[in-house]
Amino acid sequence: MKHITLRDLEVSRIGLGAMGMSQAYTGAGTDDAESLRTIHRALDLGVTFLDTAEIYGPYTNEELVGRALKGRRDQVVLATKFGLVSHADGGRRNVDSSPANIRTAVEGSLTRLGTDHIDLYYQHRVDPGTPIEETIGALAELVAQGKIRHIGLSEAGPDTIRRAHAVHPVTAVQSEYSLFTRDPEARVLPVLRELNIGFVPFSPLGRGFLTGAIRSTDQFDPTDFRAGNPRFSEENFAHNLRLADQVAAVATQVGATPAQVALAWLLAQGDDIAPIPGTKRVARIEENAAADTVHLTDDQLTELTGLPPAAGDTHNEAQMRMMER
Ligand SMILES: NC(=O)c1ccc[n+]([C@@H]2O[C@H](COP(=O)([O-])OP(=O)(O)OC[C@H]3O[C@@H](n4cnc5c(N)ncnc54)[C@H](OP(=O)(O)O)[C@@H]3O)[C@@H](O)[C@H]2O)c1
Repeated sequence: MKHITLRDLEVSRIGLGAMGMSQAYTGAGTDDAESLRTIHRALDLGVTFLDTAEIYGPYTNEELVGRALKGRRDQVVLATKFGLVSHADGGRRNVDSSPANIRTAVEGSLTRLGTDHIDLYYQHRVDPGTPIEETIGALAELVAQGKIRHIGLSEAGPDTIRRAHAVHPVTAVQSEYSLFTRDPEARVLPVLRELNIGFVPFSPLGRGFLTGAIRSTDQFDPTDFRAGNPRFSEENFAHNLRLADQVAAVATQVGATPAQVALAWLLAQGDDIAPIPGTKRVARIEENAAADTVHLTDDQLTELTGLPPAAGDTHNEAQMRMMER
């Protein structure tokens, strides 16, 4: 597995997102043993950039990752996120990046992850109620205390990124980016490159759609996040399925799988980009990690880049309002 540098943090260029092991997608939380095997297989394959968050579960995903890393903590770059659980508000799901909330959140994450430091600590969503300067100031104190090593933002817009970076260097921004979700290209990626900040695409497989494995929403159980997601709604599904089929056609030419092609396209967008595909299955981490060796020709890259946008927003209306674009 090749490595790249997000500003000053070296990571495997393909990481592993752990969210779906505990929430959001069909089957989450039903087979922790396979999830643990998946994390261990990832490490064996050199996929050492792990992504979790306080809100996943909440808490259970960090606990799972902490269990997986017993005795292997030094082998990974461990990233987690704060700011979607408000501890002053009884631990409710709520945007809260106040310094007091951060100081409480970090202690819980360190305990659940079984570590004395977090390598990359992201604000999960920008908090309109707390100036970003105050949030970054509190994070800079955690850096000085050695509790976190690097600071990240998620779904932050250009102005917030600039203001944050003026207080303390931001190492990486994590936002949705894939063949289905191209939004960061216009405004965010240019700012990141200007400031030498790395980029971590989340949901790089279009929440599974780009893998070709999803042919019908009947595959989702009622708790599946995608059942209520506009990309998977009845009106948009057929259009997006055709896009996934075009990715699959390129995969056939290459002799790779659609998931590998979706990841290889992202890797071709720059050496400052480290996607974190999510899976809870050993066979799929093996498949996704192998995208590192997939080569796309210039013609294939042009064809993929030229695909029309996916139909439907990436989130429902309430969630879209929490994202700066
Ligand atoms: N910052 C944020 O706000 C934010 C938001 C969303 C996600 N994230 C992070 O980004 C990570 C990845 O995003 P994501 O999990 O939402 O979406 P994703 O990586 O685009 O897709 C994950 C889905 O694809 C399936 N899958 C994975 N590899 C596959 C393969 N080779 N063939 C067929 N299906 C495959 C997974 O199912 P199985 O698990 O059953 O294999 C899962 O349902 C998350 O785990 C999380 O850490 C961050």
